[in-house]
Amino acid sequence: MSTISKFALALLALALGACRGGTSTSPPIHIIQDMDFQPKLKTQSATTFEGWKDGRSMRLPVAGTVARGSLPNATLLPDPKNPGKGVDGAWLAKNPLALTAESLARGKDRFEINCAICHGQSGRGGNGDQGHGLVGRRWPVAVPNFHAVQGKDNRVANLTDGEYFEVMSSPVGRNTMPSYAARITVEDRWAIVQYIRALQTLGNQ
Ligand code: HEC
Repeated sequence: MSTISKFALALLALALGACRGGTSTSPPIHIIQDMDFQPKLKTQSATTFEGWKDGRSMRLPVAGTVARGSLPNATLLPDPKNPGKGVDGAWLAKNPLALTAESLARGKDRFEINCAICHGQSGRGGNGDQGHGLVGRRWPVAVPNFHAVQGKDNRVANLTDGEYFEVMSSPVGRNTMPSYAARITVEDRWAIVQYIRALQTLGNQ
């Protein structure tokens, strides 16, 4: 047997030995690194990267940037500095998005993805045993109810369409409620307002 074939046989024996099915607590030896090890940040993790002072690996879009195809229509956002308000500075009383079966269905879809976890599918909010949202039940403060209840403070139920829009559009959110300015498009925010109004109408019957 030539030296080369002896060497090949020894290598084969070694390779087979490595596949014997036993478990090991030591990490495998990576001869070919591929891209298994690379400097990268994983989603939802912390970072000590100097430029990012908030210590989060996930970044928000740079202020003022707009994703392709997402340029807000001026009728839906008449004053970009004051979302929910008209150019006259007053809250928009009427939702500027035309109500269609599609827009309402879209609003329902977005509401159930983004809002229902805290405010509940029905929009009845609350926390603890009285809470309607999966996360809302665990919230330290009561999540507002979108429905008017006799004898209760119904400020939230009575907000104008513009005010509902503004709560989602505020870059800092509202107290313990996070901001949805970067997460939900302008059109979708108005569609959610349409759906909240539909919930209120049905809920009060
Ligand atoms: C993580 C939980 C959470 C989610 C998700 C959430 N909210 Fe809220 N929301 C709250 C809490 C808590 C408050 C009460 C904030 C406070 O203390 O004033 C609130 C308040 C509000 C208010 C009342 C603001 C006011 O003027 O008092 C509106 C309107 C509202 N949310 C709409 C929404 C909509 C629409 C969505 C989905 C896009 C949403 N929320 C998603 C927790 C949440």
